[in-house]
This record gives sequence, C-alpha cells and structure tokens, in this order.
Amino acid sequence: MRLFVAVAVPAHAADELDGVVAPLRQSWAGLRWTGRDAWHVTLAFLGEVNETVSARLVPRLERAAARHPCLPVSLGGAGAFPVAARARVLWTGVQGEPRGLAALAASVAAGARRAGAPPAEEGRRFQPHLTLARCREPVDARPLVDSLSGYTGRTWTAGEIYLIRSHLPGGRPHDRPRYETLGSWPLRISAVPGT
Ligand code: 2AM
Repeated sequence: MRLFVAVAVPAHAADELDGVVAPLRQSWAGLRWTGRDAWHVTLAFLGEVNETVSARLVPRLERAAARHPCLPVSLGGAGAFPVAARARVLWTGVQGEPRGLAALAASVAAGARRAGAPPAEEGRRFQPHLTLARCREPVDARPLVDSLSGYTGRTWTAGEIYLIRSHLPGGRPHDRPRYETLGSWPLRISAVPGT
C-alpha cells in the first residue's frame, strides 16, 4: 500500500484558502487542481509499504508524535516545483513555525526508516507545502504564483499527525487519488508557561 504521513488542514483554513483558489480554478482550467477535501501538508512520503512494515510504523509514529509539541501552523505565500516559470506543481506554503514542522518531519522520517519504510525523499531539504495544482507539461505559473504570493491564512494549532493511504485511480488518468486515514497520533500538549 502507498502511504504518507501528514498534518491535516482544518475546515476553516480550507474554506479560507478555497475562497482565494476558486477563481483561479476557473481561469486556469487546464491545470489539475487538487480538491479541498484532499488538502494536507505532507511530512513524509513513504511510498509502497507492505502490511508487516505498516504494522511496525504504528508505534514509531506514536513515539515520534509524542516527542513534539502541538504546533502553530498557517498557510500562506505560493511557489512552484521545480520553478514557477516551468511549473509541474503549484503550492501554497506553510508559515507559523517551519522549524517545528521540519523537526517533526525529521522524527517521522527517522521513525519510518526504523520501521523499514524509509521516506522517498529523505535527505532532501523539507519544503512544507500544500499542493494546489499539478500539470503534466511544465507551465509558466508565474502569474499564478504572483497572485497567491500575498495570501496569508489564519493560524491553527496542529495537534496530531496522520498516516494516510493513497489509493491511485485505476484506468482514468485524470482521476484524483483517494486518501484513507489509517491512524492518527497526538503531538505533545505543551506545558502552560508558568505552571
Ligand atoms: P505533493 O503534494 O508535493 O505532490 C501523497 O501523494 C502526498 O505525498 C502528496 O502530498 C505528495 O506531495 C507527497 N509526496 C512526496 N513525495 C512524493 C512522491 N515521490 N510521489 C508521490 N507523492 C509524494
């Protein structure tokens, strides 16, 4: 099964972002826009994992989550992979506490590696993002990136991590993957200062 670990986007943050993205979906209809129900911030993409390894992941992810405090997160800004002038992926970024999120992603990656599921992109710099659209052929997305670059969403507190299975669509190449949550584990509740 194809697995990844992510932080969820709450409904109010998705609503807010959707309000900005909706008109762009209309004017850039040639892109494959992600559905708001599928929005998430990936911490680690694990790729194909068998049942034995997925069972081993559970205590590792639980332990990784418990080592990190709940995190303030907000979405904002925009960018593209590999570059805006020849974009394959359009994204909005993660603001708030990127170092905290990077540390969490590193622990998740380490736990996954120990479970026997080394993340596909381990070693690359973690670039937290939420994918808004993909394109088969590189496209000049600079106007899109420009129009989204001033976006700043409200902050929320990420309180858990999710293990998600991605079911790839069979047959119809333009279908979106279906995501199934297999488990979630809480981050540590931070101590209240002064107590
Ligand atoms: P993306 O949004 O930048 O495409 C499920 O596919 C999630 O895992 C997506 O958020 C995707 O990131 C992420 N991911 C990271 N590396 C991936 C890879 N090599 N193949 C597919 N998805 C990957």
